[in-house]
Amino acid sequence: MWLLLPILLYSVLFLAVRHIYSHWRRKGFPSERAGISWSFLHQAYRREFRHVEAICEAYQMGRERLLGIYCFFRPVLIVRNVELAQTILQQSNGHFNDLKWDYVKGYRRFNLLEKLSPIFATKRLSEMFTHVQRVGDHLISYLLDIEQAQGGALELDLQQMLRVYAINVIGNLIYGLDVNNFEQKDHILSSYVSAGHTSLQSFTLSRLPQKSSFTYRLRDLIKQGVEHREEHGLIRKDILQLITRFRNGNDISGDKWQIDIDNEQDKLLSIKRVAKVAEDLLKVSLDSISSNITLTLFEILQEPLIVEKLQTEIKELSNENGSLKFEELDGLKYLDMCLKETVRKYPPLPIIERICRKSYTLPNTKFTIDEGKTLMVPLLAIHRDEKYFSEPMKYKPLRFLHSEKSGDCKSNAFIGFGIGGAQCVGQNFAKMVIKVALIKLLQNFHLELDATLAETIEISHQPAPFIRTKDGLKVRLKRREIKPKFYN
Ligand code: HEM
Repeated sequence: MWLLLPILLYSVLFLAVRHIYSHWRRKGFPSERAGISWSFLHQAYRREFRHVEAICEAYQMGRERLLGIYCFFRPVLIVRNVELAQTILQQSNGHFNDLKWDYVKGYRRFNLLEKLSPIFATKRLSEMFTHVQRVGDHLISYLLDIEQAQGGALELDLQQMLRVYAINVIGNLIYGLDVNNFEQKDHILSSYVSAGHTSLQSFTLSRLPQKSSFTYRLRDLIKQGVEHREEHGLIRKDILQLITRFRNGNDISGDKWQIDIDNEQDKLLSIKRVAKVAEDLLKVSLDSISSNITLTLFEILQEPLIVEKLQTEIKELSNENGSLKFEELDGLKYLDMCLKETVRKYPPLPIIERICRKSYTLPNTKFTIDEGKTLMVPLLAIHRDEKYFSEPMKYKPLRFLHSEKSGDCKSNAFIGFGIGGAQCVGQNFAKMVIKVALIKLLQNFHLELDATLAETIEISHQPAPFIRTKDGLKVRLKRREIKPKFYN
């Protein structure tokens, strides 16, 4: 009897696991041979398992447009064809809805992301530009001060500096504070950066931990900021101002910044919810901004010709009193292509993930994905696929200029900011912030990367999901004279 019990338990467990691991075969999908090896268990135990790399490897297996795999005990369907991925993500309304941004107030249900997207409209961004410019100047002054203190050439980890730059942008624009973490090293946002996101073990945004030890301290910042603005009718042209307007039921798609106060019970968002939105924006923007600037520098500093082209373009800016003009940023086409090429080669979000909410027959196929199952579009693997981008591991910004004519890339294969209704709402904001940092760095410094060091730099999505260089990016900086355009 006592012997039978463990045998029975073992058999039930065995059958349950076998059932899970045969899901795709039973449904008729092309699938990988499922199995758990000792090396897999060892990696998982030591938390060294590289999800992103494993999914990229699965992408490279075989030729089918779809492949069923297993992430631990989760059946996951990988879409290996860009056209099919686009059709699914654009046309599957209601089948893969992400409930994270859904919000219910009284009898009203709405999607917060959709409602808040006017925050990132061009007109709004142009008015927020002063803050971004000031944050860019803080970065440069800080570097110039250390350079002066060291009496000339300076070598430092730019990746770390750029994380501070990104958190300063977030502090100023999302949290609405005149904060400079290059100087205020004990500020809560400084601690957030130095904590290094060790709690991030998952690999997609939808699985970001909902709360961290910082959640409550960040909520206090939001509470003070929002209440101060509401009580004193303060106007500060930033993201927090527009979220506060929305909280009070004010239209944010126009151009007013003034907050018209609503009754407490009619407010659309509680302070807790505003704080959650702010923290979500912080989580999606911190690494994406800093990694894009870092990796753009990493690539261009190995190609003097690219730096030369960028310098030529940047020289055309009017640069009166050392200030940039928002309207001129749009004309920097070569810089645009560099940023896009960085997102292509190093997408900060390597995988788009959707959970199926209502079973869905995949377009132009005989397959149906069931409710509860996960679908993934491995955009890192797609961006590095020779079929879509020639010489994918080469950094070639001009591939986006010649596009299909030269065969350098299939224009619709770039999906670095997502596809369809769930595209990145902050992409124009991100481009503005990234451009300001790069322009100011290139205007003020000669930057040099040690060639032998460059070869050994390890870039990975570890810890997942965000991409970064493992040991930072050591760069030598030497001050250069900048002149307004009319002196050039
Ligand atoms: C180079 C920088 C960035 C890249 C490449 C990027 C890319 C992406 C991608 C691929 C998605 C997922 C879309 C999907 O699931 O279909 C996304 C979502 C999103 N992005 Fe960005 N992003 C960047 C910067 C930013 C910034 C600076 C902000 C805000 C200030 C932002 C706000 C968001 C938000 C709110 C979402 C929705 C997140 C969610 O549903 O969980 N992004 N982004």
